[in-house]
This record gives sequence, C-alpha cells and structure tokens, in this order.
Amino acid sequence: MKRMLSGIKPTGQLHLGNYIGALSKFVSYQDEYEMIAFIANLHCITVPQDPQELKKNLHDCVALYLACGLDPKKATIFLQTDVKEHAQLGYIMCCHTYMGELNRMTQFKDKQANGEKNLSGGLYTYPALMAADILIYDPDYVPVGEDQKQHVELTRDVAIRMNHRYGNLFKIPEPLIPKVGARIMSLSDPSKKMSKSDLTNKGCIYLLDDLKTARKKIMSAKTDSLGIVKYDPENQPGVSNLMQIMSSLSGNRPMAEIEQEFAGRGYGDFKRAVADVVCAELEKIQARYQEIVDSGMIDDVLREGAEKARSMAAPKLDLVQKAIGMEITAH
Ligand code: AMP
Ligand code: TRP
Repeated sequence: MKRMLSGIKPTGQLHLGNYIGALSKFVSYQDEYEMIAFIANLHCITVPQDPQELKKNLHDCVALYLACGLDPKKATIFLQTDVKEHAQLGYIMCCHTYMGELNRMTQFKDKQANGEKNLSGGLYTYPALMAADILIYDPDYVPVGEDQKQHVELTRDVAIRMNHRYGNLFKIPEPLIPKVGARIMSLSDPSKKMSKSDLTNKGCIYLLDDLKTARKKIMSAKTDSLGIVKYDPENQPGVSNLMQIMSSLSGNRPMAEIEQEFAGRGYGDFKRAVADVVCAELEKIQARYQEIVDSGMIDDVLREGAEKARSMAAPKLDLVQKAIGMEITAH
C-alpha cells in the first residue's frame, strides 16, 4: 500500500479552505493509502500564539480531523511534538538546506514584503522542519493545497541532495494537489486565498461557524456585475470561487453542469444554493465534532497515533544520524 502524509498547522480555527484543499482529501485517501495525518504544533509557534488559544485550536483541530471523517483505525493521527524525532531531524535538515533556498520561499517572502516586523528565525527555517516531517516517514505522496507545493518541492531537493551525499536515505515524495479546490479564495476579496489571517472575518468560513453566520458570509460574497454563473477565474474570480466550493462539496460536480443549472438565474439564487451545500456539510461536521468532544476519545487517539508514528520515525532518525557519522555507539 502506498503511503501518504500530511499536516495542518492550526494557528487559528480550521476553515473551509483547509477542509476543501486538504482535510477532505485526506479522508478520501485513507482507504486506498496508508495515511499519516498530524497536527503541526511546532509550526504553529513560528508566529506568536496566545497559549490558551493555541491549546484550544490544537484540540479543536484533532476533533475536526475526526469529525471530518479521518478514522484512527485507518489513519495514524498524532501531535507533532509527541514524536520528538521531528524536531531533531528538522535541525539536521536545516543544516542541509541552503539559505538561498529558504530565501526563495514565497510564504516567508510575502510576509517580509508586507512589512511584517519581528519575523522569527523559526518561520524562516520552517520549510526545513517540514522536510523532516515528511521524509522521516518515507511517504509516496504529500496531499496539500497549492500554497504548500513549493515546500514539498524543496523537500524533494534536499532529500535528493542528501541521498546523493550519504547514500539512499529517503524516498522522494510527490506533492498531490487537488484539481479543484487547491486554492479556495477569500469570499470578500477573491484575489486573496481564504485564510485565518483574514482580519475582517467576512471572507473566511470556519468549520465551527454557526450556520447562520456561514450563510451570511456566502450571501455577501463579492461577485461581479456580469450576472452570469460561469467558470472563468480570470474575469469572474468571485463567482468561480463559489463554483469551486460548490463543486468540491458535491463530489467534484462538473462546472458545466453548474453553469447549466444556473443559466438565466441571478446571483442570489446561485449563492443560496452554494450556502445550502456549505451549510449541509458544516452541519454534518459540527454534529460529529460535538460527539467526539463529548466522547473524550481524543487523548487515546493521540497516544496511539504517536506510538505508531514513533515506531516509524525513530529508526529513520537513527539511520540518518549513522549515515552522517553523528553516532559513535552501535546501539
Ligand atoms: P495550514 O492551515 O496553513 O496548515 O494549511 C493546512 C492545509 O490546508 C494545507 O495543505 C494548505 O495547503 C491547505 N489550505 C490552506 N488554505 C487553503 C485555501 N484557501 N484553499 C485550499 N487549501 C488551503
Ligand atoms: N506547512 C504546512 C502548512 O502550513 C503544514 C505542514 C507542516 C505540513 N508539515 C507538513 C504539510 C508536512 C504537509 C507535510 O499548511
């Protein structure tokens, strides 16, 4: 069985972009692949966090993984810091990543270009840690949204470099980017991706938003003055984004079919239909979320997941350290 690995960094509440671009894909892959899905809490602290809030977001993230359908019997689900090998291999990867490569990472560059002050060293080196997160498990595929593609490519470059230098240490993974929904845009500004850093809070639908709020956000989503429901991301980014949301939440329904259904009808009708689809999905997730929180199963899931992950990560770290010549005993 081919192996797949991915992580989510819950620096805020999970949103519809995370769900469509990543989480829902993890769920659909778990039967066909050996799935490893972790919560990237080391990555969370690359930007300042309020401790109480971080703790809540981490807890919610696990609950939402499960609520969205990840099954701990099929997938290995764990918290990054429960497998300390990530940080240690992360440091080793950092020593094999060039500053020139890190300088090219658009996520960091964008923050710098936005004039954000006091960016941390951790944020700068985070792609090296991400490389460790991946390579320590030898996955075949890494399912992520579009914004993470560059990081997976860097991972491949560093793995190839190290394999070349030390002998075959790592499998070279492939990014797996969904055809539809890899980049869900903000509802209030469809030129930006839907993101938890949306300060107005109008462009981002959180998985735990109450249904009325979610519906309102969709009904006031920015569209255009053309008045036709047509998939044309260039000229109609707002409408196309809503179509992507609708399509991905209804089993990748073809855009042509959606265009046909709403031909000659106004945006109001269309938005109501999108809101219906989104709210039905949120309602299902939220009901499961509550059951999971009430069941108290989260601790067990994380403990078992970490044990399984550790049994894969520890020998790999050992192998790498030996190959580099860092270990002097035979243990
Ligand atoms: P993050 O919350 O930034 O750790 O992202 C977790 C996963 O969600 C990654 O695979 C991202 O690529 C994906 N993701 C984040 N934002 C979006 C978005 N607006 N559209 C699609 N995928 C996204
Ligand atoms: N950097 C990813 C994000 O921000 C989260 C992440 C960390 C990840 N480690 C990973 C994703 C390894 C895939 C594989 O979305």
